[in-house]
This record gives sequence, structure tokens and C-alpha cells, in this order.
Amino acid sequence: MAILIDEKKRVVVQGVTGREGRARTRLMRDYGTNVVAGVTPGKGGQTVLGVPVFNTPQEAVDSLGEIDISVLFVPAAGVKDAAISAIDAGIKLTVLVPDRVPVWDAMEIGAAAKAKGAMFLGPNTLGALSPGKGVIGMIGGRAESARQWFKPGIPKGVGVISRSGGMASSTGYYLGQAGVRISTIVHIGGDAVIGIPLPDAALMFETDPFTEAIVIFGEIGSSQEEELAQLIIDRKITKPVIAYIGGKAAREGTRFSHAGAIIEGGRGTHAGKVKALREAGASVVDAFGELPEAVVEILKKIKGESLMSETDKNAVWNTAITRVQPNKVAVRGYDIAELMGRVSVGAAVYLVLQGELPPPAVARLMDAILVSSIDHGATPPSALAARTVASTGASLSASVAAGIMSINRHHGGAIEDCARQLKAIAARAARESISIDEAATRTLAAMAEAGERMPGFGHRLHTKDPRTARLFELAREAGVDGVHMQAARAVQKAFADAKKSLPVNVDGAIGAILADLGMDPAAFNGIFMIARTPGLVAHVIEEQAREKPMRRIDPVNHGYDGPPAKGLVGTSQP
Ligand SMILES: CC(C)(COP(=O)(O)OP(=O)(O)OC[C@H]1O[C@@H](n2cnc3c(N)ncnc32)[C@H](O)[C@@H]1OP(=O)(O)O)[C@@H](O)C(=O)NCCC(=O)NCCS
Repeated sequence: MAILIDEKKRVVVQGVTGREGRARTRLMRDYGTNVVAGVTPGKGGQTVLGVPVFNTPQEAVDSLGEIDISVLFVPAAGVKDAAISAIDAGIKLTVLVPDRVPVWDAMEIGAAAKAKGAMFLGPNTLGALSPGKGVIGMIGGRAESARQWFKPGIPKGVGVISRSGGMASSTGYYLGQAGVRISTIVHIGGDAVIGIPLPDAALMFETDPFTEAIVIFGEIGSSQEEELAQLIIDRKITKPVIAYIGGKAAREGTRFSHAGAIIEGGRGTHAGKVKALREAGASVVDAFGELPEAVVEILKKIKGESLMSETDKNAVWNTAITRVQPNKVAVRGYDIAELMGRVSVGAAVYLVLQGELPPPAVARLMDAILVSSIDHGATPPSALAARTVASTGASLSASVAAGIMSINRHHGGAIEDCARQLKAIAARAARESISIDEAATRTLAAMAEAGERMPGFGHRLHTKDPRTARLFELAREAGVDGVHMQAARAVQKAFADAKKSLPVNVDGAIGAILADLGMDPAAFNGIFMIARTPGLVAHVIEEQAREKPMRRIDPVNHGYDGPPAKGLVGTSQP
């Protein structure tokens, strides 16, 4: 995988009949980019290199179906209208190659993109290139040279983000010479207002499973490098960052090549950026020539040395979860003794499943998810199954396993199923260019017609599940509110509009949150099992301590004789 562009993305070229548009379309296709259409107003019906030309992006979408990316080779004065017409046609990424686009136009494009949940790269960008997959824009020139220069990230590569166009290619080239593989090279553009600034591009690489480190060609001016440093401190960027910052010699008030590269009021200085990044833990080289070697060294550290010792290479098979050596245990690379007493169980569960430690607010959210599901009384199937098996005299492990085995599609499994449905609703909204509320209403209508129930909504007992509201509150505090949570709210609204009282339940809330955290849905039921196991152990022990063997267990009619309601106030708990 890669970010922004791969071989599957369907691309339209606006300005395809112009000089650059025509030449670049050929080069992009030679490299493997899936260019499906071109657009030039008044030239609809023509073809360029076999690519059909349309008058507007909307006509192209109407005729050919969903298009993922539009690349603009349109003179600056026409960029605003051209970009907004692509955004209005539901295209989620526009790449603004032209230079001299007025700042005000870029801001208007930004507002239009935000309103439609779309993004734009540039203006004044050479685009993006994912080695071996595709290119959007102008990086790399001829396909044969680009193939020689940039090494594909198989299985993984480094992500390159550059604020300079020329240096985007050069960085990729010199990394390739040093044997470094690349997932994607992105030139974010040098203008004062750009669509995907450096921190946003870094966050994309952070969530790309095939990017193992992030290489930055930064420069003076703006606060992009400082914002990146803050993301590293907040652990929102956890992959290694290796950077070079250009413009060391520039004096205050002088523009350094690009419109955005200017030091004003003492902000955006070379020294300030280097200091911020180094203090956050990034490696910053002093000379550009040192960058490839620094990247090689860091890659050796993160995988070469730690994972592939001679013994590992000769092993019959490998695991990437935990390394055990005499007197040393490292979980996902972290010394277990160092983790103990420092990270919460939620953080450790996230670490073992995701391979990285979460930021503190996400760790709290993971803890809350585990606590929310620790037990739900004696009536859920898992507790009844565990108690029933325990009452036969079975061992603790057999009894708890019986409880775990009852966790399935209709018990605990709603977490995964709900997350998948919410994802489908969000995808439908984007595909059909409709609001997420409308997508939810249409999906629920189709499900009702097919006799299917929406998993994760409604509860046999609770009308206002106390766990759900608290989980959403903690998710908000952690800044987690993505398409899955939006879709959950839309489904809830659609049910309410239809006068059905089916609020999102705890399974639905957990599914939406875990999916917005970017976790793998395959692990969701596992997280429920991890959470519920202490409750099951308690039920088995209580069953065997208090009850007669082989009793007939009434699934509903049971009372509670535990402690009365208690508050946390006055205890040592936070
Ligand atoms: C964008 C740019 C490449 C276009 O240059 P060009 O190809 O020489 O310009 P042309 O006039 O030949 O072609 C522009 C085409 O866009 C078309 N066009 C204009 N408005 C359009 C719109 N809204 N939608 C689609 N096409 C449009 C024009 O009709 C023209 O096509 P035609 O020749 O068939 O009529 C150039 O203006 C530019 O900005 N170059 C610098 C880019 C750069 O270096 N960026 C990165 C810096 S690191």
C-alpha cells in the first residue's frame, strides 16, 4: 500500500488537451497510473492518447463512474473553477500542479473541499509518486528513469514529504542510491496556503501500514515542522522521523525560493525548526548529503538489528510480537520491565495488537473500552455458559473457555459487524455524493427490506446505555471522531426520525471508536473477549464456591446480594 496514489486509483486529468496535460498524461500512464478520463471545457468528445475527454468532471463521473483523483494542468487563473468543479463532482483528491494560484483562490478551494470531505494537494506541487504503483503530477519525469531511481516499498518503505519540488525527486533518488525503499513521495507545494501541509501528510504516513519511517525535506517559514514536532511529542506520530531543513543561511525577511518559505517576526527559523524536531525525538541532519545514511542507520535500528539477527535469519519462522532472550523480554520492541507500572492495560492491549503504544488519551479510551465490558451480570450468554459448565465440576479454564466460545455474531460480535456497516454507510455517502444522514437512511431502508437488523443499535434492557455516553465523551477528549462515529450518529438519527427507539449500544459505540482509531476489525471481538474474561473468571469462581453442582440455572430470575452502590469520590482512584 501507499498514500494518495496507487495503481488502482482512478484518475482524471483536467487540462488534458493542453501542452503539459497531454505530455504528463502519457508519462503518468507509462508509469502505471490508471488515467481514465480527461477534461477540457468545450473539447468533450475528443480523445487524447485514447483517453476520453469530457467538458466537465461531472460529465466524466456520470459517464465512467466514481473517480478518485483529479490532476490539474490548467493555467493558474482557471484553477479555482476547475478544482471546485472536480470537488463538486465528488472527487476526493485534487492535485493542483500550477504555480501562481492566488492565495485567495486556494482558500476558496480549501473551503469547498472541507464542505465535501475532500482534500487537495498543492498548489504549485509536483504531485505524488508511489514507486511501482503510480504517479500524479510531474515527479520522476520519464517512466524508465522513475523506475530506476525510486525503489518500491516491498514489503515496506519510507514515506518522503518535501516542501520543495526539485528536492522531492532528489531525496527519492539519493535514498534509492542508498538502497532505501519508498512507499510514497509527496511534494506538498511551496505556497503560503496549501491543502495537505507537512503534519497532515505525516499523519497519513503514520496510519499507512507499509510506511516504516518518515523522511522530511523541510525548509524555513511557516510552522509546519514545529507542528510535526508537537505531533511526535503527543505520540500521534510514532514512526521514526528523519529530517533535513533547508534555508539555514536565509536572513529574516528574505523569501527563500518559495512563497511559504519566509521568516517573519522571528518565527519559522531554521534553528527553531531543528531544535523543535530534535527535542521531540526526530533525527535532523545538518547537511542534505547526510540524509540517506541517517535513514539507513535508523532503518537498521528498527528492523535490521532488532529483528534480523543471524539466529533470526536462520529460524524456521518468525514472529513480530515479542522477543524473548535470557533475562530480557521485549513486547513489540519495548522492554516489558520498562512498560510495567508505566503503561496501562489498555495501552498494553493496544500495543500488542497494533504494534505501537497509543497516545495517552487513546490509552485512556482503550482502558475505558475494557472497563465498559468487564461484566454485564449473570444473564448474558457468556456468563450463563461459563456458569453452566462450571456447575458440572469443570476446571476454571474449561468453564471460562465455554463462556468465551459463546462470544459470537449476536453476543460481542456486534462490535465488528457494526463497524463494517458504519464503514459501508460512510463509503456510500462518498460514492453517491449524498449526506451521511441520507446514506444511513437509505442503508437502513435496504436492510429493513432484506429483513436484516442493524448490529450495534438498541438494547434489550437499556434505553440509554450508561456506557455509551461515557465512551463517546472519552473519545471526544481523545480527538477521535471519524467517519464511523459520524455514521453511528446518522444511524441513530435515522432510527429516531422513523420513531424507533434504537440508540447506539455499547457494542456499536466500541465498534465505531475502534474503527475510527484505525484498528483492524478482525481484532474487535478479541478486544471484547479480553475485556469480558475477568468477569467470566469471577462468575466461575462464584458458581463453584456458592452453588450446588448441576443446579438448574434460571437465566433471568436471580437477585443481587453484593455491596450497595458506591462512588469513587474519597477513594484513591483518579
Ligand atoms: C498548469 C500549466 C502546466 C499549464 O501549462 P500549459 O500546458 O502550457 O498550458 P496550455 O495553455 O497549453 O493548456 C492548458 C489547457 O487547460 C485547459 N483549461 C483551461 N481551463 C480549464 C478548466 N477549467 N478545466 C479543464 N481544462 C481547462 C485549456 O483549455 C488548455 O487546453 P487547450 O490548449 O486544449 O485549450 C502551467 O500553467 C503551470 O502552472 N506550470 C508550472 C507548473 C509547475 O511547475 N508546478 C510545480 C512547481 S514545483
